[in-house]
Amino acid sequence: MSYKMSATLGAVFLGLSSFAAHAGDVEAGASAFQSQCQNCHNVTDADGEVLAGRPNVRTGPNLYGVIGRQAGTYDGFRYGASLVEAGEAGLVWDEAEMVPYLLDPNTYLREKLGSNRARSQMSFRVRDEATANDIIAFLAQFGAVEEADEEEASGS
Ligand code: HEC
Repeated sequence: MSYKMSATLGAVFLGLSSFAAHAGDVEAGASAFQSQCQNCHNVTDADGEVLAGRPNVRTGPNLYGVIGRQAGTYDGFRYGASLVEAGEAGLVWDEAEMVPYLLDPNTYLREKLGSNRARSQMSFRVRDEATANDIIAFLAQFGAVEEADEEEASGS
């Protein structure tokens, strides 16, 4: 009985700690976005309002609503063939997919497509998983479902 109970408690704690390890910190993500991503990306809503980053930055695609979006499909952006292919094969961005992509886009696409010739046009790598999680938590705020949050984020 007591063994069973501690095993159950253990499972609960494991669950909690793995949640804590994966849940990114939005504020840390905001500053990491600023220092690592906004040279190439911004977050612009459908009305053209820039919610993060700077206007007229187009090296990388607009990241508004990127969580939940099929990879390689932001209208008007010229993606590399590999990312488009991954999207067509069913890749939709969520946290689990985006972490390894941010850590190493080339390797990620090679594994995803099963081809050593796959290449990413994003020549940037996030150094550690915690930072990737933070940035993803930050990006997850910007999407069609949470209009209210966007208002706040654009106010600063
Ligand atoms: C040096 C410029 C550059 C930097 C810095 C950069 N990116 Fe990118 N990013 C790109 C380019 C270019 C692409 C398109 C890649 C392709 O077509 O293969 C891209 C693609 C992406 C995609 C896929 C989007 C889609 O529509 O499928 C995500 C997600 C992404 N970047 C996130 C980030 C994040 C988060 C950071 C900061 C940690 C970052 N990028 C930093 C240039 C950059």
